[in-house]
Amino acid sequence: MNKIPVITIDGPSGSGKGTVATLTAKDLGFRLLDSGALYRSLAVSAIKREVNLEDHQQLADLARCLNIEFDLFNSGSVWLDGEDVSLSIRTDIVSKAASLLGTIPAVRTALHEQQLAFRKEPGLVADGRDMGTVVFPDALVKIYLTARLEERVQRRYKQLIDKGIDATLPLLLRDLKERDAKDSERPISPLKPAKDAVVLDTTDLQVDQVVQLVMSIVRDRLAS
Ligand code: DC
Repeated sequence: MNKIPVITIDGPSGSGKGTVATLTAKDLGFRLLDSGALYRSLAVSAIKREVNLEDHQQLADLARCLNIEFDLFNSGSVWLDGEDVSLSIRTDIVSKAASLLGTIPAVRTALHEQQLAFRKEPGLVADGRDMGTVVFPDALVKIYLTARLEERVQRRYKQLIDKGIDATLPLLLRDLKERDAKDSERPISPLKPAKDAVVLDTTDLQVDQVVQLVMSIVRDRLAS
């Protein structure tokens, strides 16, 4: 049995899981896995190499040798093959491609191994869609964040504009709806709360309130 504690934070786009995971990991002094950034980086790599998104075998091979480095705590940057892809992984086309890649079983299997390797002392905070259900089923604490669709769209809009990436609210609403449907309805590792997850609706909460709630759950669990 692996004794290294894992805190999983799953949920749909705009639920705040990325920000909450980063702040929680910082508070605990734990490592951080942004699993969505893995799917997104694979999408960037596949598009750049002109890999056909229907060629599952080639995509899985690419996933297995992804050369990614995260510097999430300092600059929040993601490096792929030595190139800073922090902005390109957030674009609309890459978001769609990442969601599509998430439906391919061979890709999920290849990325599964990579994700397990992030579990190192003193502990890990992992955010994504299936961290608590599939990748770390033995996690110490499982959190599932949700928020009303309109609120999630507003948050995603602000995030993109702050990064200097073009966005419009109606298009974002459509894209988020589509992505929610694709992520939740896929037969393999669909987006859903683990049976033993604590579900938190963040619609009317500030980020620091959510982090406080998560931290109190984690502290209770670490102490027991
Ligand atoms: O969390 P995110 O929005 O950065 O994730 C981008 C896409 O990657 C998401 O739409 C589906 C896929 N993904 C996944 O299938 N499983 C994960 N654990 C994380 C992301």
